[in-house]
Amino acid sequence: MKGTLSLSPLLLFLLLSLVQGLNPKCDTQDHGSTLQIFHVFSPCSPFRPSKALSWAESVLQLQAKDQARLQFLASLVARRSIVPIASGRQIIQSPTYIVRAKIGTPPQTLLLAMDTSNDAAWIPCTACDGCTSTLFAPEKSTSFKNVTCGSPLCNQVPNPSCGTSACTFNVTYGGSTVSANVVQDTLTLATDPVPGYTFGCVAKTTGTSAPPQGLLGLGRGPLSLLSQTQNLYQSTFSYCLPSFKSLNFSGSLRLGPVAQPKRIKFTPLLKNPRRSSLYYVNLVTIRVGRKVVDIPPAALAFNPTTGAGTIFDSGTVFSRLVTPAYVAVRDEFRRRVGSNLTVTSLGGFDTCYTVPIVAPTITFMFSGMNVTLPEDNILIHSSAGATTCLAMAAAPDNVNSVLNVIANMQQQNHRVLFDVPNSRLGVARELCT
Ligand SMILES: *[C@@H]1O[C@H](CO)[C@@H](O)[C@H](O)[C@H]1NC(C)=O
Ligand SMILES: *[C@@H]1O[C@H](CO)[C@@H](O)[C@H](O)[C@H]1NC(C)=O
Ligand SMILES: *[C@@H]1O[C@H](CO)[C@@H](O)[C@H](O)[C@H]1NC(C)=O
Ligand SMILES: *[C@@H]1O[C@H](CO)[C@@H](O)[C@H](O)[C@H]1NC(C)=O
Ligand SMILES: *[C@@H]1O[C@H](CO)[C@@H](O)[C@H](O)[C@H]1NC(C)=O
Repeated sequence: MKGTLSLSPLLLFLLLSLVQGLNPKCDTQDHGSTLQIFHVFSPCSPFRPSKALSWAESVLQLQAKDQARLQFLASLVARRSIVPIASGRQIIQSPTYIVRAKIGTPPQTLLLAMDTSNDAAWIPCTACDGCTSTLFAPEKSTSFKNVTCGSPLCNQVPNPSCGTSACTFNVTYGGSTVSANVVQDTLTLATDPVPGYTFGCVAKTTGTSAPPQGLLGLGRGPLSLLSQTQNLYQSTFSYCLPSFKSLNFSGSLRLGPVAQPKRIKFTPLLKNPRRSSLYYVNLVTIRVGRKVVDIPPAALAFNPTTGAGTIFDSGTVFSRLVTPAYVAVRDEFRRRVGSNLTVTSLGGFDTCYTVPIVAPTITFMFSGMNVTLPEDNILIHSSAGATTCLAMAAAPDNVNSVLNVIANMQQQNHRVLFDVPNSRLGVARELCT
């Protein structure tokens, strides 16, 4: 990362300025079936960095976490078609968006990471050896139950074991292991109680990558929240993710078919039995400005066997396109910005400028739905505008690089509706405040 050192005179303390100041909304209670969504660096988040990062550092850190995220997404192809509870691996270390949920009776408030590509429900519990924060205390809840070894639920978790009568499981990620008990308790989302919700109560973590918070998996596989709340929410939800630029803003996670937008464009959701929790769509091609760029169809084609295709993911920060697709988009973008201008790089971004630019729009053309992204979803700027980068990258070569990921930077300030019963995903522009 030597290249970034030369940028140090430009380092701007964007994050510091964003996390300072009061946020009057932190104590607002959630109503109905709608939860506020906070950025993990928001003033309302206890997980924000304790020391301010420079703009370049924060960008690089987000990118580094994306790398682990992409590895996780690639790993979902693995042997099992069932993505189990607590398959979180690296990704749960670095969730981008969090929501507030209550667990137990009386309810204990916890902040959970929102993750559309995961079915996991994983919460650090009291006396957890190695956990760092937000602990749920089962002994204070009258509705808490252990799942026993005999229960069919116990067979659905990875590597179940029965040391005591309780069903437990271990998962490893990186150099770390997590050991959790399979348990049930009442989960309250906004004002909706979900009795007997099954999740992993983390008892022990080793290594340095212990998950700092619980995980609310919004994937659609077995044992996911969607599967467990079928009657209540009918596998339908939508969110609006607030921009990184407005850490004071919160977005919203709206659960269930009620109050979903009517005026919204849809594209069909595709199902991959090997990656049952992922939300695949058919990205046909991409337009830069008015020009449809030349992308080999194979780069975007959906293939359930190899896992190739395009997903919407809430946990990856910057969109990744397989190399031929990315190169086509980037080259046209550079041409439109001006072939004259000097292009620099920053971390994994290869199209940065140190002079003000006028960027073309980028349109993702899905089956039945064009989504045209304004500048705010395409460019990442240092706060003084001194450096501007195209906020996308090629899929890393060292992971399964057949997957295109529409990431959260490109979804910000849009309502994204996941309508599983009708097998469709909707997108509409909306400013989250
Ligand atoms: C966040 O809110 C505080 C006060 O409510 C304000 O002083 C601060 O400027 C805001 N920050 C941003 C980035 O809007
Ligand atoms: C659940 O299991 C744990 C560990 O086996 C045990 O310590 C705890 O007392 C059990 N709780 C209940 C309510 O059965
Ligand atoms: C799971 O991890 C715990 C704690 O590290 C350990 O005691 C136990 O033996 C492990 N179980 C299995 C099945 O690997
Ligand atoms: C490109 O650079 C040349 C010389 O530096 C300049 O005269 C010209 O106006 C530039 N063109 C554009 C489109 O900026
Ligand atoms: C998307 O845009 C293209 C023009 O680039 C147009 O031909 C096509 O009909 C549009 N698709 C939809 C679903 O609006």
